[in-house]
Amino acid sequence: MRAVARAHPNIALIKYWGKAPAPGNVPAVPSLSITLDTLTTTTTVSESGADVFRLDGRQSDDPRVAACLDNLRRRYDIPPLSVQSDNDFPTAAGLASSASGFAALVTAVDAAFGLRMTPAERSELARQASASAARSVFGGFVTLEAPAWTAEPLLDEAEWPLRVIIAVTDTASKAVPSSDGMRRSAATSPFYPAWVDSAGDDFRSASSAVLARDFAMLADLAEHSCLKMHGLMLSSRPGLLYWNAATLACLHRIRALRADGEAVFFTVDAGPQVKAVCLPESEGAVVDALSGVSGVRQLLVSGLGPGAWVDGS
Ligand code: DP6
Repeated sequence: MRAVARAHPNIALIKYWGKAPAPGNVPAVPSLSITLDTLTTTTTVSESGADVFRLDGRQSDDPRVAACLDNLRRRYDIPPLSVQSDNDFPTAAGLASSASGFAALVTAVDAAFGLRMTPAERSELARQASASAARSVFGGFVTLEAPAWTAEPLLDEAEWPLRVIIAVTDTASKAVPSSDGMRRSAATSPFYPAWVDSAGDDFRSASSAVLARDFAMLADLAEHSCLKMHGLMLSSRPGLLYWNAATLACLHRIRALRADGEAVFFTVDAGPQVKAVCLPESEGAVVDALSGVSGVRQLLVSGLGPGAWVDGS
């Protein structure tokens, strides 16, 4: 009655921002992501006298963890649990720790109690906690779309081994959590209906670009989805401004690299870190360029990796 599961964060190339008016944390738009092979959440669950959750060694009362366990208990007979979750990277700084966290949690509970869930069911339960977590159940290129809203693998990580360079510009927790920001955008941004209406086209085109390994097309669509999401954030009231000066400097640097012929594009989530996605042959140039940008504190380099897994399996 104890299991250890691990999961990596994923980075959306076609972004999820906004929820459907339906129960179960259903996104309003489809999304497409890549799962990383570095940055790991390790989650240990074991039977205990009462539910206790520890995050990075400290007791936490994150209501999303309690809600996730409630959802699991609606389907399965699960005793009180001790949950210990550790990230080897900064929590809640736009590095998708909730994605890897909930994918690892559901996978660990499944393994500890022999529940024999399908990957789709783990993805559904992870989505109910945090929709991006649905995608970290799978590796490589992953989609999350209607009508099932369980993630599905699109292309294996070995089939198109892109590289990801994360420029960390600030490690403080983000000011406005994603869920609150999404509600604010839906309620106040005049651009929200256009965002929802145009997401399907971006998603379908990007899925085709991945299957065709068309880097230039994927670069164009991913930067468009990212900048459109940040336009939506900026046009919310009060405006959601997740970038700092170094974030913007990195975006200009990446655009300049691409103009110089390097195969690289950027994406940014609800935080100030910049993720540069490139072909392997451009990795050195991207690392050199971003390490010279003022305000970049650290570079994390990753490939594409597997979905959530159980230790010893
Ligand atoms: C900007 O999955 O954190 O990273 O479902 O409310 O937990 P909740 O939101 P979350 O939002 C992720 C937003 C994003 C884009 C993305 O990952 O698609």
